[in-house]
Amino acid sequence: MEMIHRYEKFFLGSTLVMLGVGLVAVMSSFFVNDLELPSPVKTVDPATFTSEPPFDKPGLFEVGENEYDAIITAQAWAFIPSQITVPVGSKVNFKIGSVDVVHGMIVHGTDVNLTIVPGQISEATATFDDAGEFLFVCSEYCGILHHNMAGRVIVN
Ligand code: CUA
Repeated sequence: MEMIHRYEKFFLGSTLVMLGVGLVAVMSSFFVNDLELPSPVKTVDPATFTSEPPFDKPGLFEVGENEYDAIITAQAWAFIPSQITVPVGSKVNFKIGSVDVVHGMIVHGTDVNLTIVPGQISEATATFDDAGEFLFVCSEYCGILHHNMAGRVIVN
């Protein structure tokens, strides 16, 4: 006597086949396209990139008229620098690298929402047309003081 009905066998079998196809699709996209962030990224050595420009001196740098590069390092549990001040109307290019684990960065009031993976530089640009203080926070759980990892953009 059959213990499993043949239809049931058929559906069990096709489920396994679909799982296999899904796994192959994910793995092949991983190996064919490499795993990388969707933003324009640069690959760095997480152990040494803070001793090379521009990450050896994190901070705010004027790169054009009303345009700034914010070079920021993320580490448990702080952004360095944690505060930047720009004039109203400034375009800020955030360039961020992590020195330890995966962090994130959401800048309130903007579209900036980055994942910061060790070994890759995350970039996003925002224009600050209104004066005020814009909080940025770490958006990936990175340890016991994750909730303290924050900073702000002051626009005046
Ligand atoms: Cu860094 Cu959470």
